[in-house]
Amino acid sequence: MSYPETRMRRLRRSESLRRMVRETRLSRDDLILPLFVVEGSGVREPVASMPGVFRFSIDLLVREAKRVRDAGIPGVILFGIPAEKDARGSGADAANGVVQRAVDAVKAAEPDLCVITDVCLCEYTDHGHCGILEAGEVANDPTLERLAATALSHARAGADVVAPSDMMDGRVAAIRSALDGGGCPDVAILAYAAKYASAYYGPFRDAAESTPRFGDRRGYQMDPPNAREALCEMRLDLEEGADVLMVKPALPYLDVLAAARRRFEVPIAAYQVSGEYAMIRAAAERGWIDGERAMDESLVAIKRAGADWILTYAAMDVAARLPG
Ligand code: PBG
Ligand code: ZN
Repeated sequence: MSYPETRMRRLRRSESLRRMVRETRLSRDDLILPLFVVEGSGVREPVASMPGVFRFSIDLLVREAKRVRDAGIPGVILFGIPAEKDARGSGADAANGVVQRAVDAVKAAEPDLCVITDVCLCEYTDHGHCGILEAGEVANDPTLERLAATALSHARAGADVVAPSDMMDGRVAAIRSALDGGGCPDVAILAYAAKYASAYYGPFRDAAESTPRFGDRRGYQMDPPNAREALCEMRLDLEEGADVLMVKPALPYLDVLAAARRRFEVPIAAYQVSGEYAMIRAAAERGWIDGERAMDESLVAIKRAGADWILTYAAMDVAARLPG
């Protein structure tokens, strides 16, 4: 049958009908809020390029974690910004480091909130790269031990999930074995498996003070034109012991997300990154788009493409306008 017997508009005529045929719904359960933590107390610094996003000291982070739980959001991902940086990123695995103390404090106050930690060296190295340098290059194998130690320190502080975002080869296996050997076999790994060398990380690097001092990350993060390679990355991370696979950024890579959803049985995460968030907020501030609708449309697209977990800086705003 076709037109005029078939009229697709019949089921779009009222909001009730539209609700009845809606295929995808965003839920609070899908959302994970990224949070930045800095040293000090009483700190709640706005991030200039990300309206509505702040860097919190641990005392205020704990208050924020309560708001997150009250909003019905199941999890947060923490990024630590240390006071001091050095060549090997010593702060990354310090037992009393900023993120380790933050995890401990948040879990003590909100034991039911799932705490994920970003595992990388770039916030902790003075050169801003995600690994150890040798002869001016980011050296893969020597970095693995640093990442494994970092993940274990987060797990020992109480993290439920560790999320390596460095893109070194073999890091998931190194982290799994460190966690298992270090008495943390129940801590899960969310692998930033298909992480692209993206222009959309700009605002994050301001917030985390992690812009590389020289060069760029194209030698370890993925080349944007490649999609099959992303499936290869994901398969390898799964084989190495990842529990959840992530695609990052989200909206420019919905094809990769959809392909990952079809191919793998584990949960798939997508990160709506800082630049995706900032673009919507900036255009909305200028009155050029309806920011709330654009955000909801973006997030439902990410879910429709297959994401089970959506990391978004808009999690709190979105949760506040979801029904129920
Ligand atoms: C650290 C890391 C980055 C992001 C998450 N973890 C930045 C980068 O790789 O340069 C980006 C998050 C965002 O842009 O919101 N490796
Ligand atoms: Zn990094």
